[in-house]
Amino acid sequence: MATAYDRGAGADVSEAEIAVHWREEGYYHPPASFIGQANLTDPGVNERFSEQNFPECYREYADLLTWDRYWHTTLDTSDAPFWKWFVGGRLNASVNCIDRHLARYRNKAALIFVPEPEDEPQAVVTYQELYQRVNEVASLLRDGLGLKAGDRVTIHLPMTPELPVTMLACARLGVIHSVVFGGFSGEACGVRIADSGSRVLVSMDGYYRNGRLLDHKANADIAVETAAREGRQVEKVLVWRRLSGRTATAAPMVAGRDFWMDDLLKEHRGRKVEPVSMDATAPLFLMYTSGTTGRPKACQHSTGGYLAYVAGTSKHIQDIHPEDVYWCFADIGWITGHSYIVYGPLALAATSVMYEGVPTCPDAGRPWRIAERLGVNIFHTSPTTIRMLRKAGPDEPAKYHYRFKSMTTVGEPIEPEVWKWYYTVVGRGEAVITDTWWQTENGGFLCSTKPALDPMKPGSAGPGVPGIYPVIYDEEAKEIPKGTGKAGNICIRNPWPGIMQTIWGDPDRYVKVYYQKYCKNRNSKDWRDWPYFAGDGAVQAADGYFRILGRIDDVINVAGHRLGTKELESACLTVAEVAEAAVVPVADELKGRMPEVYVALKPGVAPSREIEQKVIQAVETIVGKIARPRAVYIVPDMPKTRSGKIMRRVLSAISNRSKDLGDVTTLLNPDVVEQIKQMVQGGKAA
Ligand code: PRX
Repeated sequence: MATAYDRGAGADVSEAEIAVHWREEGYYHPPASFIGQANLTDPGVNERFSEQNFPECYREYADLLTWDRYWHTTLDTSDAPFWKWFVGGRLNASVNCIDRHLARYRNKAALIFVPEPEDEPQAVVTYQELYQRVNEVASLLRDGLGLKAGDRVTIHLPMTPELPVTMLACARLGVIHSVVFGGFSGEACGVRIADSGSRVLVSMDGYYRNGRLLDHKANADIAVETAAREGRQVEKVLVWRRLSGRTATAAPMVAGRDFWMDDLLKEHRGRKVEPVSMDATAPLFLMYTSGTTGRPKACQHSTGGYLAYVAGTSKHIQDIHPEDVYWCFADIGWITGHSYIVYGPLALAATSVMYEGVPTCPDAGRPWRIAERLGVNIFHTSPTTIRMLRKAGPDEPAKYHYRFKSMTTVGEPIEPEVWKWYYTVVGRGEAVITDTWWQTENGGFLCSTKPALDPMKPGSAGPGVPGIYPVIYDEEAKEIPKGTGKAGNICIRNPWPGIMQTIWGDPDRYVKVYYQKYCKNRNSKDWRDWPYFAGDGAVQAADGYFRILGRIDDVINVAGHRLGTKELESACLTVAEVAEAAVVPVADELKGRMPEVYVALKPGVAPSREIEQKVIQAVETIVGKIARPRAVYIVPDMPKTRSGKIMRRVLSAISNRSKDLGDVTTLLNPDVVEQIKQMVQGGKAA
C-alpha cells in the first residue's frame, strides 16, 4: 500500500494537497455477544468526554487508579506545551499494578510466559508471586545498588517475565526505567544508556529466537563499551539467566561489573520494599524512538497521567475485564508492550500473556495453539504479524478451538484484504476488531472505534478515542474538512494524560518537533493554541473516521517499528568506502515498508559486492537486524538539487518501481536519475 506519503510519488506536490482515492469499505457491526459483556456500552461516553467537559472528563480514568493522595488540578497548562496532569496527586505504579489486587486476586495469573521452544513448559506468575519477585528486585536495586527515585536504569531484555518484573521493581522505587528493545544491537543500546545517563544495565544471558538460543550478554558488553565511548560509565551489569542451571552465553562475566541476578537475589529473598509514593508528574519511564535526526530521542512518560490513560483505554478500547486472558503479541521493548502488555492490563488485574519468540515458530499454527491452550479471548498484534501468519498458514486458525471476543491491530496501516482475513478467519466473524492508531509519544491510543459502540470499517482506524479531538491541517494550517477526500497532517487539538512530558534532556526538540508547526501563539497558556503534530498523513471520511496513510517525515515504519532514515544513513557512513548514503522506504508485501540503501563511493573506490555486504553489516551492528536493508545500490552519484540536497523522493520513487519520477529536469545531475532507474528497475539489486 505505497502512498504519496512514502515519497513514492516523486512529484513535488505538497503532502497536504494530495487527494487520496480509495474504495470506501462497508461497515462491520459488533456482535451482540460482545456488546452484552462490554465495559463501554453507554453512548453517553461521547458527551462525557466532549470538549465542553475537557479536561475534567479524564477524572474517570484517574479514578481507575489507587492514589496515595488525590490531585487538586486535573490539567495544568501554565508551562504549555509541557502539560501536567493530576497535579498534587501521589501514587505508585507498582502498587497500582500489583499490591492493590492482592486481596482479591492473589492467586490469579498476572503473567503467563510462553517460551519459544514448544516443549518448554509455560510459566505462570501469579499476582502474589509477581509481588514477591518485584519486591526482591526492588530490594536489590535499592539496598544492593543504592538506586533511588529519579535515577535511570537501562533494561535490555527479551520477552521473558524478568522484563516486567524489573520494570515494576524500578517503578516501586520511582527509578525511571528505559527499556531498549531486545532485538536492538549492543551499540544501539549503548547510545541509549549514555543518553539516559544510566549507570546500571539489566540484561540476560540469552534467549530463544526462531529456534536458536541467542547470546544476548555479548550485546551487554558492546553496550557498555559504546556507552563509555559516549561518556557514560556503566557501573553494574545485572544478568538474568534464561535457563536454570545452564549458561546461555559464551561472554565472560567482568569481575566487579557483571553479576548474575540469581546470585544477587539470594540475599534479598523474602524482602519487602515500601513503595515510594511518587508525584503524579514524576517520570515513570523513558522510551526511545526514531525521529528525523540521527540520534534517537527518549519520550519521557509520567506516572499518574500515563497510568490513568493506559488503564482507561485498556478498559474502554481493549475491553479488558479481570477475568480475561489477554494476549498482546508485541514486544515490551516497544511502547505497545509497555502500555498494553504491562501497565494497562496489570492495572486492571487481567492475565497478560507474554510470548518469547517469532509467530511462525515452529509453524504458523503456533499462535492459535497458544490461544487454544490458554483460553486467550483478547488478541492484539500488528498488521505485519497478521500478514505473515496469513501467508504462512491461511487455513491454520480453523484447526484450533480458541475463541476471541476482541482483536486489535496496531503499528501500521492494515490493508482491507488483510483486515478481512483477520476478521473472518482469525476472529471467525465473532470478534470485534479495533484498529488503534497512536505513537510512542502518545502513551496510549489516539484513534480507534469504541468496540461495542462504533461499527468497524476495514482500513480505517476510526474516530478519536474518548477525549481525543483529532483534526487534519494542510500546510497552511487550514483545517481540511471531513469527506473531501483530501489528505493532510493529522494533529490532536488537545493534550491528554498519556502524552509524553518532554524529550529527555531536550525540551526544545520536544516543542520544535511536535508543536512548532501549528502553534497559534507561542506565549499562550491555552491548550487550544497548541495542537499536537503527529507526523502522519491522514484522511477523514464523511463519517468522521480517520484513515492513516503513513509518516510524512524521514521515518520508515518497518513491520510496525519506527526507524529513522538518518540513523540508518549514519550507520552506512561508517563504512570507510562510502561517501554518501540515502535510505528510502520501499513498499513490502509482508513488512509494510523496508529500507533500501543508496550509496555513492569515495573517489577512486570501485563498487563491489563486498562493500554492499559491509553496508548491510554496518546497519545490523549499529541499529539491529530489524533494520536490515532490502537492497543496497551503489550508484555513480546521488540525484541532487542545485543546492546539493539529495533527492530522496526520487530515489524512493525508483525503489517503489514508480514510472513517474516527477520533474527531474531542475536537478543538478538529471542524467544520473536515468542511470539509477536502469540499475534498480532493470532488476539489478544487491
Ligand atoms: O505512522 C504511524 C504508525 O506508526 C507510527 C508510530 O510508531 P511507534 O511510535 O513505533 O508506535 C507504534 C505503536 C503505537 C505512527 O506515526 N501507526 C501506528 N498505528 C497505526 C499506524 N499507522 C496506521 N494505522 C495504525 N493503527
